[in-house]
Amino acid sequence: MPVISVAIQKGGSGKTTTAINLAAALQRTGKKILLIDADPQANLSQSLGIEDEPEHNLYTEIRKEMDGDAAEIRNAIRIIHDGLSVVPSSIELAGAEMELFRVYGREQVLSSMIQPIVNDYDFIFVDCPHAIGLLTVNALTASDYVLIPLQGEFLPFKGVKSFMHHFELIRKKLNKKLDLLGLVLTKFDERKTMNGKIREELIALYGDKVFQTVIRTNIQLAKAQEAGKDIFNFDRSAHGASDYEQLAAEFLEKL
Ligand SMILES: Nc1ncnc2c1ncn2[C@@H]1O[C@H](COP(=O)(O)OP(=O)(O)O)[C@@H](O)[C@H]1O
Ligand SMILES: [Mg+2]
Repeated sequence: MPVISVAIQKGGSGKTTTAINLAAALQRTGKKILLIDADPQANLSQSLGIEDEPEHNLYTEIRKEMDGDAAEIRNAIRIIHDGLSVVPSSIELAGAEMELFRVYGREQVLSSMIQPIVNDYDFIFVDCPHAIGLLTVNALTASDYVLIPLQGEFLPFKGVKSFMHHFELIRKKLNKKLDLLGLVLTKFDERKTMNGKIREELIALYGDKVFQTVIRTNIQLAKAQEAGKDIFNFDRSAHGASDYEQLAAEFLEKL
């Protein structure tokens, strides 16, 4: 039921990796998950082995909704395996940023599209693009929670502060139920003093919203993505797998 946007305006933060592997870890505990790829770069779709431009995708359904025809998001759902499905992206989604601009209720398009299916899943994750444009605003307007992955470096830390400003505005103006689920540090290396320092500063600012679990740097996570698989189907013994398993346990506790 809950819809969770995985968002932050910085590329390379680990949004897509977190969306895929947190979803896969939850699926392994028996949950039914839908991933929505709202990034025109389609990294999530490709990382789950969807290489082609699917005939039905998030863009084709947004297009229908914009034209005033009823979108049928069910048509765009691809089952990856039992309990894990995805609504793939398409490069055309890049144009939707502009096209949505001319539409009445432009911030609520995704929200109304997913209403018919929200109860079909235990969790729906929306993987957001690297900008706070209309696609991210649509994702946040459709969500109950936002999950923010970030690297423990200075610039991402500053990026969080600016993201939180948009989060507050969206909560005030568009979606009162939106809540911060938490911040999770990715590509973490405990030998890097900066990583630990940023973690402490985040805890000072956001308290228990900072996940205790950190996702360590693990090359297998990148290789799994290249291979079109989640980490559990790629290398079950990698510490990326145990980190995302632990994140899933903490995620379930928080909810
Ligand atoms: N914990 C990690 N260890 C090593 N590489 C990672 C890790 N998390 C993500 N990556 C890699 O870093 C790159 C950016 O991650 P990604 O999840 O695509 O970020 P975003 O979606 O925020 O742009 C990808 O190549 C991904 O495979
Ligand atoms: Mg991404």
